[in-house]
Amino acid sequence: MIVTVTLNPSLDRTLHFGFVGWGMVNRATSSALDYSGKGVNVSVALRNLGQPSIIMGLAAGSGGRLLVEGLRARDFRCEFVETMGETRSNITVIEDGTGRSMKLNEPGAPVTPAVLSELQDRLAALLSPGDIVALAGSLPPGAPVDTYARLISVAHRHGARVALDSSGPALAAGCQAVPDLIKPNEHEAAELLGRSTAGRLPETLSALRGLGPDRVLLSLGAAGAAFAGEGRSWCATPPAVAEVNSVGAGDAALAGALAAWSLDRSGDELLRLAVATGTAAACLDGTAFPDRAAVDALLPQVRVEVLESWP
Ligand SMILES: Nc1ncnc2c1ncn2[C@@H]1O[C@H](COP(=O)(O)OP(=O)(O)OP(=O)(O)O)[C@@H](O)[C@H]1O
Ligand SMILES: [Mg+2]
Repeated sequence: MIVTVTLNPSLDRTLHFGFVGWGMVNRATSSALDYSGKGVNVSVALRNLGQPSIIMGLAAGSGGRLLVEGLRARDFRCEFVETMGETRSNITVIEDGTGRSMKLNEPGAPVTPAVLSELQDRLAALLSPGDIVALAGSLPPGAPVDTYARLISVAHRHGARVALDSSGPALAAGCQAVPDLIKPNEHEAAELLGRSTAGRLPETLSALRGLGPDRVLLSLGAAGAAFAGEGRSWCATPPAVAEVNSVGAGDAALAGALAAWSLDRSGDELLRLAVATGTAAACLDGTAFPDRAAVDALLPQVRVEVLESWP
């Protein structure tokens, strides 16, 4: 089983306007609500690939209830721990007249040590050897920087494998607990290594693996991705596509990687499915995720090349 963990989920509202003006009442021409946060996105993308998962996380107040009820109504298995405050709302404002947009994100509901300890216990109770835990997204206010490191240790004690997709100090501290896979983008990788990574793929992959994780999926936006693990590294280039909205493409890529990893596919197959799923998501509007047919159509068009092998 794959378990995704979202500590800072959100209700994402997308509002469209003709034009937006400061100091006046702006009336939206349309409004949509998505249940989100990176782990939730990964679970939705996995579902579209035909792979079930359990959505774990923290939920707070009426917003949290709306999120959990909404996900359950879509037949997702949810294991949420209640925390104080309100689950955040993230608002995207799109000005159709100019094509401009802005995102307004709330910080999220604060957490306490007791809430995090209950989440650890609930995770431990769910896991069986061989399961995959995907820890994704930012940490909520009040969560210590080693929160992911602790969850990784819990998962490992129960024989599960762990993928970590975060950024900044949460990712750096998480790496110290040796997750089995990380999925940084170029910016996150550069931050983690403290230097530019441009144009140095094999060296970057090896430096990232040197931080602890055995498998590294380095996503490169429109250029595709690279993967290192199990004695080899590869890079993969997607076909040229018309990008519509690449928000969530990283979550889709991680879902593709997890779907392949959960079936113990080889590293090149994992990379190909990750890139096809990410690229298919970049072709969709909003934070939408592709269905299996769209991903399967792209799979043979992804060019995979070996970079290195090691003993
Ligand atoms: N413009 C694009 N054209 C084609 N494919 C894309 C594009 N942007 C992203 N992708 C695909 O999506 C994958 C992940 O994208 P990216 O590296 O942008 O992730 P990310 O920065 O983690 O994104 P996120 O905002 O979801 O966290 C890439 O490996 C690639 O396959
Ligand atoms: Mg990302």
